[in-house]
Amino acid sequence: MADGASPLAYNSTWQVRSDAWCSLEESSAQLVLAGAQHRPVEELGQTIADLLDVLGPIERFWAFPGMQAFGKVRRLFAAGKYDRFAALVRGINRALATDSFRTGQAWDLGAEDEALDRAAHPMEQARTDRPYFEVLIVEDMTEQQEYSLREELRRWRRPDDAFIYEIVVVPSIEDAIMAARLNYRLQACVVRRRFARRSPYDSSSLAHFVDSVVADDVMELSPEERAQVLARSLARIRPELDLYLMTEISVEDMAGRLSHHFRRIFHAREGSLELHLSILDGVAARYRTPFFSALKNYSHRPTGVFHALPISHGKSIVESHWIRDMIDFYGMEIFLAETSATCGGLDSLLEPTGPLRDAQQLAAETFGSRQTYFVTNGTSTANKIVVQALVQPGDIVLVDRNCHQSHHYGLMLAGAMVTYLDAYPLNHYSMYGAVPLREIKRQLLELRKAGKLDRVKMLLLTNCTFDGMVYNPIRVMEECLAIKPDLVFLWDEAWFAFARFHPVYRPRTAMRAARTLGEQLRQPEYRERYQEFASEVGAIDAADDEVLLERRLLPDPARARVRVYSTQSTHKTLTSLRQGSMIHVSDQDFNQKAEDTFHEAYMTHTSTSPNYQILASLDLGRRQADLEGFELVQKQIENAMRLRDAVDNHPLLSKFMRCLTTADLIPAEYRSSGIDQPLRSGLPNMIKAWDTDEFVLDPSRITIYIGATGFDGDHFKRSQLMDRYGVQINKTSRNTVLFMTTIGTTRSSVAYLIEVLVTIARDLEARIADMSPAERGAHERAVQRLTSASAPLPDFSGFHSSFRDSPAETTPEGDVRRAFYLAYNDSYCEYLMPEEAEQRVENGEQVVSTTYVTPYPPGYPVLVPGQVFSQEILAFMRSLDTPEVHGYRPDLGYRVYVDKALEIAAADCPKPLRDGPPA
Ligand SMILES: Cc1ncc(COP(=O)(O)O)c(C=O)c1O
Repeated sequence: MADGASPLAYNSTWQVRSDAWCSLEESSAQLVLAGAQHRPVEELGQTIADLLDVLGPIERFWAFPGMQAFGKVRRLFAAGKYDRFAALVRGINRALATDSFRTGQAWDLGAEDEALDRAAHPMEQARTDRPYFEVLIVEDMTEQQEYSLREELRRWRRPDDAFIYEIVVVPSIEDAIMAARLNYRLQACVVRRRFARRSPYDSSSLAHFVDSVVADDVMELSPEERAQVLARSLARIRPELDLYLMTEISVEDMAGRLSHHFRRIFHAREGSLELHLSILDGVAARYRTPFFSALKNYSHRPTGVFHALPISHGKSIVESHWIRDMIDFYGMEIFLAETSATCGGLDSLLEPTGPLRDAQQLAAETFGSRQTYFVTNGTSTANKIVVQALVQPGDIVLVDRNCHQSHHYGLMLAGAMVTYLDAYPLNHYSMYGAVPLREIKRQLLELRKAGKLDRVKMLLLTNCTFDGMVYNPIRVMEECLAIKPDLVFLWDEAWFAFARFHPVYRPRTAMRAARTLGEQLRQPEYRERYQEFASEVGAIDAADDEVLLERRLLPDPARARVRVYSTQSTHKTLTSLRQGSMIHVSDQDFNQKAEDTFHEAYMTHTSTSPNYQILASLDLGRRQADLEGFELVQKQIENAMRLRDAVDNHPLLSKFMRCLTTADLIPAEYRSSGIDQPLRSGLPNMIKAWDTDEFVLDPSRITIYIGATGFDGDHFKRSQLMDRYGVQINKTSRNTVLFMTTIGTTRSSVAYLIEVLVTIARDLEARIADMSPAERGAHERAVQRLTSASAPLPDFSGFHSSFRDSPAETTPEGDVRRAFYLAYNDSYCEYLMPEEAEQRVENGEQVVSTTYVTPYPPGYPVLVPGQVFSQEILAFMRSLDTPEVHGYRPDLGYRVYVDKALEIAAADCPKPLRDGPPA
């Protein structure tokens, strides 16, 4: 644990709680033993009392074991009845560890002695196949009332119910908010009439989880208005929770005025059956996986296949003598589910009208979009679809040059005029950060000055970046829309699908930002704010660039359109088979302006034989994210923090490696909060930094600086991690390796990684000790090279004038498509070895690339078609020791244009499709 960090700082109490129960079981067993052997028990007693104090404030937010049983644990301990105390603790801990409490059996722990051990031995006939969840009831009630309600709801259970649930009762808004933050098993919440603002309990150890947004004067409101305030707060933290209102006043009147957050309203005197059925129905609606279910049903039907796909129902395999091992390995089920049918209960991805349409609609609800589309060829394809749908040849698109290759190819195919944006460099680590908002605004203002704003179509950014830099999308969109009110945004969230399921991450996702922005633009208070802003700045179209660069801009609510797209590799951070990806749309002009072209673009890039297994896995991944995303993402972050702590606090590891912090990766000028380590210094700091800073770091991406090992990133990845220990990582730089935790990371896998790192460090230490003076010198030189400055990362040098609108242009956009296709004529191209290229550049000649040149790592194109070489680029390329450089042939060198080609291109230079500003 980092110095000063609270055990609860990481916003997840699951680990603290399960560790405390395990320790309690161990200590209580020792207590019994010590008592039997007449040994002193004071020290053990203190340990146990401390553990009970840790658990006390947490347990009231969980249905099992429940406050009654926990009270009994405390009482038995206080009364010195250690045998019974230890038995009860053992029972509870076993039930928690084995999840046996999820059957809903063995729950009367607070009652009779003989029930004590039942938790550890659930009744055999209990069904274990139904998912279990918990329901939060917000009402200040007596213990007896709570008991009656629990029993009443239990009485409605039926053996064939699809789910089983238990209730957690809290008496106040504060407790309800803490419960929503802490108890990931909650799926529904029933808000009743009588509850307080503040918690009656001492919650000081959980102060991190209390929300300060609910004002104290909430108690002056009517119970129903208070319920609405609570509903809004809960929906902000956990939008997936089904909210129900139970009231005693006229429900008919209330129903019309209810906030959309409530799924249903009930009259309190009408009993609980309807409520019970609604709770089950609400979860069932989210549990639905229409396409997976249709595929499952289809796969069990006998079919005669007179169509393509001999593998369907395993037919071409089962009779084969030579590929039987295919079934041995994969099992039969997957082949039963292989079909090319689009009817008989199935659906067509290209024109969905049945289960695929339903599955996509459910995904739209889960991910907060207006429309969601499944993509079976990864975000590489999703990006090309969105770009083609929205960009016409000649449109100007602003894009981070450091973006994924799919954007470079997509923009090339679309014929966009591309303006590359430079991210801030992190030269010491040979990495890029993200694109500062000031740089985006500067480019937009330049385009405005050149009279080209009408041709600017889209801003395309990666959120979060591979290395974990997260934008503030709402701020970026607000300020850009102030300059260009109909700008379309494509946020590449290939690595960020999980972010929707954590309350601190969520506001920084494209879909949530789009929704918030849309709501904000409609609010009368915003219009007033805008009027104030407008009267200070004057007409924005005439305002001075420097003024607009310096101040925060607000979009004109009468002109701004919210047109936002996001692409997510579901397979990268949530559950899906490889290549499963989604496009989320929150475009208020989609129906009028984009639906048709989107459809065409989707048809352009989508196979007419999409893989059904990928589609079914997207459907299932959606269900999982909806019902347990909140839990899994908290665990992902907690695991990341454990890994960071272990590396930084281990005496041997910290000799050779160090986790880079927010302060290392995000310069102070982009962190107005001034917080260097947001999550490590506690949840409130994380919330503050994520609220205000221009960039924040996704804590689940852990960049470890390994310069002191003397291994470069690529060697460390291949020779140390992969070959020796089978640890897979993806990205490296000269002196860093990137580890990421996902919802699939377990505590054991973190422990294994730490073990591996310690072994590598130990071996290295031993090797250094045994080195000869010459070897030691070589090692020290390697360390020196890796820890000192390298060639700076080169900025985008510019397009050759032949690929711009005209040689006199003042703005930098270029036509990558023309530059790309010109090179199909071999006689226009030649190869230059690096020395010759350097010589020519030094002589002041323009050397122009025909193609993308992309070293891995870092993995972004250092040159694009039509781009001129610069000394910085050549120096950077020379400094790389990576073996993999796409677009460069070591035997021939760089492929560049001959002068004749550039002359022809210049003469050919087409007028832009829409020339100049509108009259
Ligand atoms: C930022 C970014 N966008 C898009 C992609 C492509 O995603 P996929 O692998 O799903 O095609 C990647 C892949 O690494 C990426 O890093």
